[in-house]
Amino acid sequence: MAVDFVLENCKIARPDGILEASIAINNGRIQKIALSDAMPKADNAIDMSEKIVLPGAIDPHVHFRDPGFTEKEDFETGSLSALFGGVTTILDMPNTKPFTGTSEEFEKKKTLAEKKSYIDFSLYFGAMDGNIWEMRKVNPIGYKFYLDHPDIVGYSGLKAAASSLENKIFAVHAEDPDIMHDNLKKNSAADPKSHGKIRTAEAEMESVKAILNIEMGSNNLYFCHLSTPSSVKAVHEAGHFAELATPHLFLSRENSAELGNFARTNPSLKSEEDRLGLWKVLSLVSTLATDHAPHLISEKESASPPSGMPGVETFLPLMIDSVNKGFLDWTDVARLCSAGASNIFGLVNKGIIEEGKDADLVIIDRKKVWEIKASKLHSKCAWTPFEGRKLKGKIDSVFRGGKLAIDKGKLLAKPGQGKYIAPER
Ligand code: DOR
Ligand code: ZN
Ligand code: ZN
Repeated sequence: MAVDFVLENCKIARPDGILEASIAINNGRIQKIALSDAMPKADNAIDMSEKIVLPGAIDPHVHFRDPGFTEKEDFETGSLSALFGGVTTILDMPNTKPFTGTSEEFEKKKTLAEKKSYIDFSLYFGAMDGNIWEMRKVNPIGYKFYLDHPDIVGYSGLKAAASSLENKIFAVHAEDPDIMHDNLKKNSAADPKSHGKIRTAEAEMESVKAILNIEMGSNNLYFCHLSTPSSVKAVHEAGHFAELATPHLFLSRENSAELGNFARTNPSLKSEEDRLGLWKVLSLVSTLATDHAPHLISEKESASPPSGMPGVETFLPLMIDSVNKGFLDWTDVARLCSAGASNIFGLVNKGIIEEGKDADLVIIDRKKVWEIKASKLHSKCAWTPFEGRKLKGKIDSVFRGGKLAIDKGKLLAKPGQGKYIAPER
């Protein structure tokens, strides 16, 4: 029996090195990795000489805005944008409307996403003070604690969750509300420049310290979007997981002059020195993410602009370009954009190109030069902070679940083909 695909002469990027081999894909899985003369017969044999093959990226932190804010994004447009960016798995955040903080809302979101998603996904549950009972009813991929919003949950809520749940992942937004409140009294929140004076490096560091002081039991802390090298070091030393998000890796306060409120994000962009420092501590980082947080242009231009920027489609392209610039290796990309998240969240069939795993693969033309243009992207929000950036290296094709989802830029996948991933924990 012939297999579905054989990809011949691949340069396969894995965390432990580049493997030169062919890949046989059948029934959604990677059936065999071997030299080409050991390959089974295939319905479709594709020569991949000169191409780098990366595992499909896993973005463990996106806001697809569905339900409730679908004018900004919905599960269909968000997942389409992800797919075009080589992201084949996402974990979606709970700050939708209604908030994903009851088992009922959790189930509703799962059902709507199953109908719309182009890619595989799992969901966070939103922790709230006093909703331990609801938290115990579900088994989400992680619980999200918006500790910068004391009206949702405080440090005491995190402590209560840690003493009542076991072997869970607690994803935390670490910016201390009291420090930010004090900073706010000294600065006007409306001024884009004052955003960084309220959401300071100190606000993040003090919150990291306060969280690390809480007894976690068998639970693991996952620190979202750390924005300074010192926070990354503190989290790593304490043995917990550190996530970096693309805004802080690719933009700094220096970009705010040009981008204005479009650069406004939480945590705030830090100094150029901090940004460069983040690249130096990548070995201490557990995973990268985008914090894809689309808002409409009209909202960003309004008198009270929301924080956040889109990024799920530009994430892997920016990383590929960074390899070409010599900032990191393909092996680092394989770890930071795929294997890391798979290990943390127990996505056991994903994250590495290995026999038996899901055939989620991204084929890269590593020499092609191109330019990011919002008009070519697929997010509903229709803008990008990276407009006009010239990149070297382009995504050629994407396989998801063993199917050719994007063939040389042409969409073949359909909404609803993405699957919900039930946590293995
Ligand atoms: O900038 C941000 N935007 N930070 C967050 O924590 C939330 C996000 C959003 O949902 O827009
Ligand atoms: Zn956050
Ligand atoms: Zn976020």
